[in-house]
Amino acid sequence: MFRKLHDPGAQTVTIFIDGRPVPAELGESVAAVLLRQPEAWCRTTPISESPRAPYCMMGVCFECLVEVDGLASVQGCLTPVRNGMRVARQQGPRSLSA
Ligand code: FES
Repeated sequence: MFRKLHDPGAQTVTIFIDGRPVPAELGESVAAVLLRQPEAWCRTTPISESPRAPYCMMGVCFECLVEVDGLASVQGCLTPVRNGMRVARQQGPRSLSA
């Protein structure tokens, strides 16, 4: 659906989405990379488990929650990529632990 505009000076890194290597560019957000994927969703809802995708891209809607390097419920639109980052789509309800 989305594609990155060509930026000849961009530094390319590799992140892993659900274990799959994905090219990204420094300075872009995790949510932007997710929106370029064939399956652009980032989480499923806790009750119906319907897929949700980033929407506002400015930290307001919380539709972009993903797991980043083992930390759950990270806002993908506010998180810049870095080389080797591990992103996992969140599915179903999160567990609460103290
Ligand atoms: S896309 Fe809305 S908070 Fe991230």
